[in-house]
Amino acid sequence: MNSTAILDLLHSHRSIRKYKPDLVDDETIRRVVAAGQSAATSSNLQMGTAVVVRNRDRRWELARLCGDQEHIREAPVFIAWCADRSRLDRASLSRGYEQNTEYLESFLVAAVDAAIMMQSAVTAAEALGLGTCYIGAIRNDPVAVIELLELPQRVFPIAGMTLGYPRHPSRVKPRLDLDAVLHWERYDPADHELLEQYDRVMADTGIYRGREQPLRSVAQGNDRNRDADASIATDLYGWIEHSARRIAEPKRTRLSEVIRRQGFDLK
Ligand SMILES: Cc1cc2nc3c(=O)[nH]c(=O)nc-3n(C[C@H](O)[C@H](O)[C@H](O)COP(=O)(O)O)c2cc1C
Repeated sequence: MNSTAILDLLHSHRSIRKYKPDLVDDETIRRVVAAGQSAATSSNLQMGTAVVVRNRDRRWELARLCGDQEHIREAPVFIAWCADRSRLDRASLSRGYEQNTEYLESFLVAAVDAAIMMQSAVTAAEALGLGTCYIGAIRNDPVAVIELLELPQRVFPIAGMTLGYPRHPSRVKPRLDLDAVLHWERYDPADHELLEQYDRVMADTGIYRGREQPLRSVAQGNDRNRDADASIATDLYGWIEHSARRIAEPKRTRLSEVIRRQGFDLK
């Protein structure tokens, strides 16, 4: 095994949002999902499921449900990665057991299984020359997605993913300095300089130009964000400003309701 090639592949990851119209054949999709399936899974319960959508009308409907993202329409394949306890339900019932999904833990282990599975699939896809982009927006209107994909009770869409052949290579997005995320023995919160340094690196990429996050609560003088500066100069708008604005606004506020309706109690 060529470890350098594998590490190079991991370090060259980038999300792809422009796709060629070329279709991805069944066998390739099966190889990608099978690689995901080989990932570690909690107690070997295998609680991840992939729902592959290739039908154009259904992909377009998914795009509409996922914030009208153009790359969902463009990519020939959409995969909904789901936390799935329904399969275990069927297996357990065949032996006369009823599973317990009352606690947050049962949702969390299924969601973690699905997440680990999807990331191995991403690596496999990239090794095969394909590109992907996760779609968290699958949780914008989860009820409609659940209906469209006919997800039974105890199956919940954790993330979507576009899959296809990249139209052109996009650039690799810089990450935080390793020392900001790698702590030895104990957590060290003294990362201010590293965060500021990354803020500048990201501002300099120009990635945010024209994509500044509107900040409704600041514009409205929301008390919690009264110190925020909504009129920051473009060249000072970096990772911190962008990320802070993203998490300052409430998002997908009804998810716990839908997850409960899907049969996970989240106690
Ligand atoms: C769970 C998850 C959800 C995401 N949702 C979206 C999305 O809805 N639309 C999108 O264009 N990118 C989405 N992304 C992609 C991220 O924006 C991207 O991974 C991040 O900016 C880092 O860029 P890179 O993947 O090119 O390194 C998502 C990523 C993750 C992990």
